[in-house]
Amino acid sequence: VSPEIGQMLEAHELLRKFYHHLLVNTKDGQHALEYLLNRGFTMESIDKFQIGYSLNSWDFVYKFLTKRKFPEEVIEKAGLIIRREKDGQFFDRFRDRIMFPIFDRNGQTIAFSGRSLGANEPKYLNSPETVIFNKSKILYNFHLARPHIKKFQQAILFEGFADVIAADRAGVENGVATMGTSLTDEHVSALKRNVQSITICYDSDHAGIEAAQRAGEMLSAAGCQIRVALMPDGMDPDDYIKEFGKEKFRKEVIDASVTFMAFKLLYYRRGKRLHDEGDRLLYIEEVLAEISKLDNAVEKDHYLRQLANEFSLSLEALNEQQRQVSFAEK
Ligand code: CTP
Ligand code: MN
Ligand code: MN
Ligand code: MN
Ligand code: MN
Repeated sequence: VSPEIGQMLEAHELLRKFYHHLLVNTKDGQHALEYLLNRGFTMESIDKFQIGYSLNSWDFVYKFLTKRKFPEEVIEKAGLIIRREKDGQFFDRFRDRIMFPIFDRNGQTIAFSGRSLGANEPKYLNSPETVIFNKSKILYNFHLARPHIKKFQQAILFEGFADVIAADRAGVENGVATMGTSLTDEHVSALKRNVQSITICYDSDHAGIEAAQRAGEMLSAAGCQIRVALMPDGMDPDDYIKEFGKEKFRKEVIDASVTFMAFKLLYYRRGKRLHDEGDRLLYIEEVLAEISKLDNAVEKDHYLRQLANEFSLSLEALNEQQRQVSFAEK
């Protein structure tokens, strides 16, 4: 480890502790703590995830770290302060935000994500890419989730920090999330190295459903077994747990997850009116294309029969069509 990287890590450790202290023990952090408790965060999870608060100040971090002899350039390279173009003055990146430390797989703090308290944009402000923080590799909570992932041979993939933390509170401790980016090949290989079975539990909104479809394809292509956990329209796991409770989340969302194929059938149904002939034929075509990609003959047969039954079609016709699709794709 170069001295510069050592200093960056040390700066992050110091700030993580101080942000947490500000949130939990000070009057300055009181409104932020109230915001979190209102949202359903508990003191236990605030402590476990070392959540903090950054002061509403332009130079708190700058002074805090330079006083402790951290060089300006190092603090800037670590993404904690920003140099203003016009006069070269430094100012703090994170101000008046709930601070989520981002840990690497060894539990070292390598970045932060700061959530605004009100409607201030952006909702989440992340550390920039630095020599210690690579967004396309990091999975939030991987260091804590890993033993649980190993034990259950199962990982849950969420969209956001709040979802991972709420799930943890609900006893689902094998959850990880990407850092505001969509799933990358690096995330896929990191997951693949540790686990075969992955349950995707993204938000039940348009963006989340599209992202789940894409993530499912990537992870299946890498050889993972995928299931998808479903929630009522418009909800995310954090909302769901707050509204319906831990037990219902475990039983009716996580344990009730569906196979990736079943999810795709629902996915292709969205926005279609299946009593309309054109929509119906399109749906059948899309489903046949998916069936033709299956390499398990029993599964193929199962979904073909299901489709034949639902639309009162002959299995022979579907089989024939499916062979043509599969031939056309090769
Ligand atoms: N995200 C981000 N920047 C934004 C919005 C979102 O980096 N401006 C990332 C965050 O990592 C966030 C994830 O994308 O956790 C999912 O976004 P979203 O569903 O909008 O946020 P939630 O996790 O639901 O956050 P909250 O419950 O606090 O509103
Ligand atoms: Mn604490
Ligand atoms: Mn979302
Ligand atoms: Mn969400
Ligand atoms: Mn949310």
